[in-house]
Amino acid sequence: MIKTDISSAKKFLDEAELNVARKKAAEAFKIVKEKSGPGCEWLGWRRILDTPNDAELEEISSLAAKIRRDADIFIVAGIGGSYTGAMALIKALTPQFGQKGPEIIYAGHHMSGRYLSELVNFLDQPKEDGSTKQVYLNVISKSGSTLETALAFRTLRSWMHKKYDDAKDRIIATTGPEGGVLNNIIKEEGYKKYIIPDDVGGRFSVLTPVGLLPVSVAGIDIQTLFYGAVSEFEENETDASEVIEYAAARYLFHENDYAIDVIGSFEPELLGFTAWIQQLIGESEGKEGKGLFPALAGYSTDLHSVGQLVQEGRRNIVETLLVVDKSFSDLKVTSESSGDVDGLDYLSGKPFHEINRSALDGTVQAHTEGGVPVIKIRLEMLNTQQLGRLIYFYELFTAVYVYMLGVNPFNQPGVEDYKKAMYTLLGKA
Ligand code: PA5
Repeated sequence: MIKTDISSAKKFLDEAELNVARKKAAEAFKIVKEKSGPGCEWLGWRRILDTPNDAELEEISSLAAKIRRDADIFIVAGIGGSYTGAMALIKALTPQFGQKGPEIIYAGHHMSGRYLSELVNFLDQPKEDGSTKQVYLNVISKSGSTLETALAFRTLRSWMHKKYDDAKDRIIATTGPEGGVLNNIIKEEGYKKYIIPDDVGGRFSVLTPVGLLPVSVAGIDIQTLFYGAVSEFEENETDASEVIEYAAARYLFHENDYAIDVIGSFEPELLGFTAWIQQLIGESEGKEGKGLFPALAGYSTDLHSVGQLVQEGRRNIVETLLVVDKSFSDLKVTSESSGDVDGLDYLSGKPFHEINRSALDGTVQAHTEGGVPVIKIRLEMLNTQQLGRLIYFYELFTAVYVYMLGVNPFNQPGVEDYKKAMYTLLGKA
């Protein structure tokens, strides 16, 4: 089970208030379970874990295995909840260097013409042996009409149809069950389609084909991932105390006028995951004048930049750290036979993960002494099963905590405002 550790936040909280907040969080969890809150028609991220679709998991795995065999490049075209989860998992669970299998490239997550034209040029260049690059494209958009993704899809689709006679078999579309422009294109062209269920919103969709196909193409075992989330779901149905503790503490900081939640980790592999959390919480809670701004920090790197501000800047910051208890690597600091020229002999033979842990513990100590409460979210190891668990833990936490704020966690009405203004400027009818 994923654990919440508020021991380094407690001195900033009033015990009596914390007990009241725990009760409120337990009530919010009941609202989630009983589907009695606003936006309850969007609780499908729980339903899919309650009734796993093994046939779909298998079908996705076998298509992904074929793509891994045939493709040099796999493009994931999507934005927001349609790509952040896949990116987070791929960053965390694939080797940092020299990955095997197709190169995963993201598109449709902004509107940079430079990026897209460089991408098309890159795809056009032959491989070292002179042969043509084998490209597959997965367009992901629940609405099927998001401009960033639609523009990238138009550009890349047209390139694919010019390049390959069998382009139709290389394009996979993941979208809502029906309606939307993308569904019309799928019907017309006969592309393979995966459905994003109606009751699963974008930022809660990583365990649907939205995340599962790209993640599987990257070589990650999606059965293990999915069933990791199922275990977390099942255990929380009987005892959600870890989620409740986290929701209660963050709620109190929110109510006590903290403004920023610095979400970070000392594991660089988890930085994509913190970005997924940023979107999940930020887009869910930031409504009606509420919410803590979820800022990201990659430690210890950022201790040498924004660490200064966290330590001594305006005191309205709370910090959430993703902590991995057991490390994979046993790399140790080497001993120098030529003497202690770099003054590091005191660390000779020490595993890097112990040094990194001392950096974490030292930082928590310094930040709490500097007036920043720290909440730790602990996972046992950085592996596929634990990240499946972490996904559900954060989805449930978000729903519970945002219900405590009294807003609908599952909509994003404010996102429409920039679109309206942009479309007017672009002259859309
Ligand atoms: O959480 C959400 O709903 C959003 O972040 C969407 O995922 C994002 O706007 C992309 O939307 P769509 O999948 O419809 O292109």
